[in-house]
Amino acid sequence: MDDLGKLKEQAQAAVDGASDPNGLELVRVDLLGKKGRITSLMKGLSGLDVEARKEQGAAFNRLKNDIAEAIEARKTALETAELDVRLAQEKIDVTLPSRPEMTADGRIHPISQTLDEVVAIFGEMGFSVAEGPDIEDDFHNFTALNIPPEHPARQMHDTFYLPGDAQGEPKVLRTHTSPVQVRTMQAGKPPFRIIAPGRTYRCDSDMTHTPMFHQVEGLVVDEKTHMGHLKGCITEFCRAYFEVDDLPLRFRPSFFPFTEPSAEVDIGCSRSGGELKIGAGGDWLEILGCGMVHPNVLTACGIDADKYQGFAFGVGIERIAMLKYGIPDLRTFFDADLRWLRHYGFLPLDVPSMVTGLSR
Ligand code: PHE
Repeated sequence: MDDLGKLKEQAQAAVDGASDPNGLELVRVDLLGKKGRITSLMKGLSGLDVEARKEQGAAFNRLKNDIAEAIEARKTALETAELDVRLAQEKIDVTLPSRPEMTADGRIHPISQTLDEVVAIFGEMGFSVAEGPDIEDDFHNFTALNIPPEHPARQMHDTFYLPGDAQGEPKVLRTHTSPVQVRTMQAGKPPFRIIAPGRTYRCDSDMTHTPMFHQVEGLVVDEKTHMGHLKGCITEFCRAYFEVDDLPLRFRPSFFPFTEPSAEVDIGCSRSGGELKIGAGGDWLEILGCGMVHPNVLTACGIDADKYQGFAFGVGIERIAMLKYGIPDLRTFFDADLRWLRHYGFLPLDVPSMVTGLSR
């Protein structure tokens, strides 16, 4: 027994002497491992008679448990100490004032600001953000959206075609963010409630068109989603974004191959005195396209169109940025002119949120 008492002391000393988790592991293997000291001592038990073996065996087991416990305790202590060191080293003083030189010159581009605002509004409504590639295939950009090959609706989009892949399948620069609807529905299970902000491309360039521009797509699919939800959601969004509580909206019948019925949405404005003002004023401005997701689209994406239905919408980001921030010329967004950015840009630390305010 005395031998065991000594062994226990030695073991405890070895455990206490380990200065890091690796060293401790070596000690554990030396004591308790398959070829460890305790294990080989226990092998000697087989030579004893039954009573002695019982007694000794029990004593060995107690010793083993004690050592295992001591190792566990030491391990926790070492890990805690390691964490404390790291926490002390990685300390940040969050009470330090922001560094003005970091915010004085840089500006957030109005496109980024507008996207952040849109995400903040829909985020509050329970939407999450989905993404898809800028380079799309024909299926996602057109066919799955109920625009079969040779369909005249393809001419609505002035598409940039890219050389096909090895199978000869043509690739396109996506002409809208609607393919993200398809990707979202293919990858998941309903219900869906997503927005998809991103770049889109059309071969078009004049005062009001640039070859690259931005859209935000919205998609809601559930068992009982109806046109009333669409109207409520869009109304809520427009009023929050333009920060006009009683902003009038008008839903005009329209056509998109991937929605039925389809509508275009106008917001109220006034143009009196040659100045455009968003709000009730007797005039109208078109700002987005929307509709109930066409059953053919649901089916093409593997969703049961008898069970599920929903709505979708697409908003042009440059357009709503120009309207809200009074930016007269679309092309200036992409001139990379610092004077323009200083004038129309936003302070980096003013992050838009529904709580602190969208724009200040
Ligand atoms: N994809 C359409 C466009 O680019 C907009 C839209 C999206 C319309 C979703 C209806 C539903 O013009």
